[in-house]
Amino acid sequence: FACSPPAPKTKKEDLFDREAELAELLEALKGDSRLILLVGMRRVGKTSLLKVALNELGRPHIYLDMRALRSYADVSFYELLSDGINEILPLHKRLLDHLKNVRGVAVSGFTISFDLKYSKPSILQLLKGVNQWAKEEGLALPIIFDEAQELRYFRGRVDIARLIAYSYDNLENVKFILTGSEVGLLYSTLNLFESSSPLYGRHRKLITLNRFDRDLSAKFLREGFKQKGLQVDDTLIEYVVDKLDGIVGWLAYVGAEIVSRVKKGGKVGTELVERAVEEAVELVEDEVKKLPKTHIMVLQCLADGAKRWSEIKTYLTMRAGRTFANPQLANILDRLMKLSMVGKENDRYFLLDNLLGEAARRVRGF
Ligand SMILES: Nc1ncnc2c1ncn2[C@@H]1O[C@H](COP(=O)(O)OP(=O)(O)OP(=O)(O)O)[C@@H](O)[C@H]1O
Ligand SMILES: [Mg+2]
Repeated sequence: FACSPPAPKTKKEDLFDREAELAELLEALKGDSRLILLVGMRRVGKTSLLKVALNELGRPHIYLDMRALRSYADVSFYELLSDGINEILPLHKRLLDHLKNVRGVAVSGFTISFDLKYSKPSILQLLKGVNQWAKEEGLALPIIFDEAQELRYFRGRVDIARLIAYSYDNLENVKFILTGSEVGLLYSTLNLFESSSPLYGRHRKLITLNRFDRDLSAKFLREGFKQKGLQVDDTLIEYVVDKLDGIVGWLAYVGAEIVSRVKKGGKVGTELVERAVEEAVELVEDEVKKLPKTHIMVLQCLADGAKRWSEIKTYLTMRAGRTFANPQLANILDRLMKLSMVGKENDRYFLLDNLLGEAARRVRGF
């Protein structure tokens, strides 16, 4: 697994560790949880765990990857939804009977599409149809919103939180699974803790994915290299573990990078391993560069450790050569937290990913 191509896993054999989380998720999928939240920082393995669980479950489900939203207008959501439904229709033709009369739904063969010309399609009716079908089949149909925090940019008129709340209350045979970062998903997209949110007070099953500890990270790499017949020194493994801080997505990425470099004739050693880590830092750097300068400055400020509000403010003022009002700084920190780049504990802000600090330090020219 440490050496396979960087894509989410779908098979249980390919999933390293995570037995407890997988069991918990499967239980929630089989049980009567109506709202399941799978949260964790970026690249910690949410999509992989979810896909493996769905595969193990072996039942129909509707999977919506919110990162595939091509724009933040309704039409893009309808597109995603019809794709998700069309995915299961060929195997579950009876579902069509429940969808063909839904307002705005057009049927052709074993696919549906939304007709947006005359009327606004009724997602509510559609969900009722899906629920009715699931009921007849004796199923609790999972509807998945992967990377649900993307919804915060959604500008369409479809109120997704309200739809989920309605389904939660009235549709017994569908359940929702949302993945995302804790801050982005729970606080920002769903506003679960605000009484004005449609989802306020609903019970949710929360499953948290944490990073690997040092031992597990090292084991992940060692086993991955072994599978590929590669001998890598413990000190080199320690070096990678230090840099990557238990984030499985990075461990997998750098592991694969090392293997591919060796395949191309490279010699396993400090230089090759450093280059492989470097590759990951460059990826992060490209991402950091897209942020506004003030955001990059804050990341740079946090690169050498956790900081208090006042420390960040002083740093930012010095660097930018101008003052910042408190709401301005609050905005920047808020956005960085929603992006899953910055965390906060005991009044201190810190970077969630080691590589971010390295990457931010390198961004110059302002
Ligand atoms: N338990 C695991 N064992 C082996 N590889 C894993 C595991 N979990 C994740 N990976 C690998 O790590 C990478 C990131 O995983 P994944 O995409 O599932 O994470 P994510 O939390 O959904 O990330 P993102 O925030 O980018 O959506 C993938 O390349 C995947 O193959
Ligand atoms: Mg994901």
